[in-house]
Amino acid sequence: MKKQYLITVISLFLFVTLSSGSFAMDYQHTLDTKDMQFSWTIEADQIHVQLSAKTTGWVAIGFDPESVMEGANIIIGVAKDDKAKIEDHYGNRKRGHENDTELGGTSDVLNPSGSEKDGVTTIAFTLPLKTEDKFDKEIKTEGMYRIMLAHGAGKDSFKSRHPYRAVYDVNFSTGENKKIK
Ligand code: HEM
Repeated sequence: MKKQYLITVISLFLFVTLSSGSFAMDYQHTLDTKDMQFSWTIEADQIHVQLSAKTTGWVAIGFDPESVMEGANIIIGVAKDDKAKIEDHYGNRKRGHENDTELGGTSDVLNPSGSEKDGVTTIAFTLPLKTEDKFDKEIKTEGMYRIMLAHGAGKDSFKSRHPYRAVYDVNFSTGENKKIK
């Protein structure tokens, strides 16, 4: 009887923990900004990324911008409940971006996932550090590397502007980071 009780308790515990998603990936590094959280893990020739913000709109990261948003490899995503849509974009102008596939490039986002719960949008994905697409940027894991973080507001439109944006230099190997603006 006691054994049966123990088995029931353990099964219940496993069911609750597994179904609540608390077996999600633990990331090596996290950067907490005023409005956003960026977590990542470097694994061989890939980076696993998680972005989160208190928004019902989009969340995005831009790798290696050159002038405002121009030149950046932008990954932008939205979510509804447990369904996410994540796209691989390129900063083709100082104040705008376009889907790589529309520009003649490729989408290189792997393992897309995400959720929107209680007004918080979280997306997760994997990127190769280097791709063949000319609209991507090589992600360098040595030394400081410039990134942009931003999120939209309201509805899930990639066309809407950002109430929050920031620029940081990050060392992807050590987690060291510095706010630029
Ligand atoms: C259609 C969507 C977007 C529009 C219309 C837009 C528009 C603009 C405009 C007009 C500026 C200059 C004014 C300012 O500094 O606020 C700007 C700056 C900026 N945007 Fe966007 N943006 C969009 C999406 C994004 C995305 C997806 C990111 C990715 C992380 C981003 C990151 C930034 C950053 C970091 C700056 C400041 C850059 C700097 O001052 O060096 N934006 N954007």
